[in-house]
Amino acid sequence: MQFFIDTANLDEIKAAMDMGLVDGVTTNPSLMSKESEDWREIAGQICRLVPGPVSLEVIALDAEGMVREAKDLMQYGPNVVVKVPMTAEGLKAVRILKSMDIETNVTLIFSANQALLAAKAGAAYVSPFLGRLDDVGQDGMELVHQILGIYSNYGYSSKIIAASIRSPMHVLDAAMAGAHIATVPYKILTQLMAHPLTDKGIDAFLKDWEKKAGK
Ligand code: E4P
Repeated sequence: MQFFIDTANLDEIKAAMDMGLVDGVTTNPSLMSKESEDWREIAGQICRLVPGPVSLEVIALDAEGMVREAKDLMQYGPNVVVKVPMTAEGLKAVRILKSMDIETNVTLIFSANQALLAAKAGAAYVSPFLGRLDDVGQDGMELVHQILGIYSNYGYSSKIIAASIRSPMHVLDAAMAGAHIATVPYKILTQLMAHPLTDKGIDAFLKDWEKKAGK
């Protein structure tokens, strides 16, 4: 399973890279706006730092504008993946960008039919938003299962990024389901590696070691 980090914060990306946990990065306009630096500066730095795919999102709502922005975003590096919203205009942009060999990540996917259309249009990645579905009383993980089933039925090559991850259970369930990628906020990454019995075990080992050394 690949891990992307869902952040525009360079310190978080560097820290996760040091642990070998960054196969790629996803950003969105909300994540970019949390940072104090200009988004262009951040985008450039992330693309230089991370060898894997970096999703940068367009703001335009029409296909022509999305394609124009995509061309601009591609200047930040060859690893840029253009994130477009799941709309009719977004699908048009996906088709055009595919013909230009530019990879896209179709974002804000909330139904399996949307994921089917995104794959047909030629998206390299689709991002079902698990947490936001759970928030409105729907089963986000069920959506991942449905998309995996449909893509397997027809041999679509679009990769599924389990997004809007809110807890370690989301990561576990996405891994069990076989999602290709989970894009994980830094806070959840740190929660994934922690276990109270690990801490207790280290403590006990050190105490025993010190006891023996003190003899
Ligand atoms: C994914 O690409 C999005 O950036 C992100 O996962 C959205 O997460 P949220 O629902 O916690 O904002």
